Amino acid sequence: MLEDYSKVLGFGVEYREEGLARFLAPKLPSSKNYAPTSLPAFYNPKSKSNRDMTILFLKAFFQDRKISVCEPLAGIGIRTIRMFLETGIIENSVVNDISRNAYELMKINFKLNNIESNVEIKNRDANELLTSLRRRFTYVDIDPAGSPATFLENGFRSCFKKDSVLAATSTDLSALTGSKPTSCFRKYGVYSIKTPFSKEIALRILAGFMVKTAARLGLSAEPVLSFIKDHYARVFVKIRYGIERAKKVLKNLGWISYCKVCGNIQTSSIPDPPQLKCVFCNADMLTVGLVWIGELTNRELVSKMLQEALENKQLYGDISKLLQYLVDEDSSMIGYYPVNYLASKLSVNPVKPTHLIEELRKMGYRATHVHMDSSAVKTEAPINIIKDIFKLLSKR
Ligand SMILES: C[S@@+](CC[C@H](N)C(=O)[O-])C[C@H]1O[C@@H](n2cnc3c(N)ncnc32)[C@H](O)[C@@H]1O
Repeated sequence: MLEDYSKVLGFGVEYREEGLARFLAPKLPSSKNYAPTSLPAFYNPKSKSNRDMTILFLKAFFQDRKISVCEPLAGIGIRTIRMFLETGIIENSVVNDISRNAYELMKINFKLNNIESNVEIKNRDANELLTSLRRRFTYVDIDPAGSPATFLENGFRSCFKKDSVLAATSTDLSALTGSKPTSCFRKYGVYSIKTPFSKEIALRILAGFMVKTAARLGLSAEPVLSFIKDHYARVFVKIRYGIERAKKVLKNLGWISYCKVCGNIQTSSIPDPPQLKCVFCNADMLTVGLVWIGELTNRELVSKMLQEALENKQLYGDISKLLQYLVDEDSSMIGYYPVNYLASKLSVNPVKPTHLIEELRKMGYRATHVHMDSSAVKTEAPINIIKDIFKLLSKR
């Protein structure tokens, strides 16, 4: 049977399983260092966490509401197949991939999973598809290898104007985290910078770009779930219609300034200019903007996702740790400090993040762990207080 499929497709395939889906994927090379983009059709087992999070998000956000879904860059279809099998709320769907091989494999995979009605499988360029469909969806998932920037505007145009969601993945983390600032500027209109909390800046650049793109179309887009894991960043935004709403959401765009000398982080929101001088040491600050400076993740929503992950460990156990971090993390605070960074700034031994968090809380400051860096602390406390407590703790 496998050989028959391989013959028809013109490349080797193998059976694989993920979640409740059983499907055919291109035969993966035995070496671990292959690029999924080099396969005859794209499939990356390492993105399972991305797909797991998507399933749990849909269940927690839409609950029993029946939804329509569009996945314009679907690879071999696993994500949408899992949505059908694991959420039970998908009414209909359009899946698409520009690669002929991926398209052919996708058709087989939907059949193998007995999902044949209510699915349209297409083989087109994603932007062409989205502009020609003249249809709107409750959920649009933009999941490219690289930057989602070129697909977002058409993605938003394809979302229902009320209470729909668009999710975007970005794997161009070198651009977003400050290693390739010019490339980041070209794609997202923001010069990224290198800081101890570059991963959070990456999420805030992506979220800000999504919010601005939606606002141009008269839509308000509000981040409800944002995270970075392994090789990718992912942001889910809730969409509503209305220029006034869009303007209100845009107030959460602003500048983040970071002092390389003392570590201080300051923010300012539009229409104020970026803060260029450190209020603690008067040094010049690095600034990045305009980025999203509001809350990145709704903790109530991720609590529901965590509950489901814990009740269904066999399927979603792999992401329960990430979800626990997201439940703990207060993303309304900007930036974070890895303990090694503080230790080297102060020339003392590092302390455990948990101890630093406890002490800061005792003093009345909000302080939490960070999903992007388990060695870091996020807090509203000023840098001088953080350093004083850190020094005391490192002496104990
Ligand atoms: C990261 S993969 C998608 C993985 C899939 N969403 C999943 O969860 O398994 C990106 C896919 O986008 C496809 N692609 C790249 N450029 C495209 C375009 N302009 N239009 C449609 N598909 C495109 C590639 O062939 C590839 O299969």
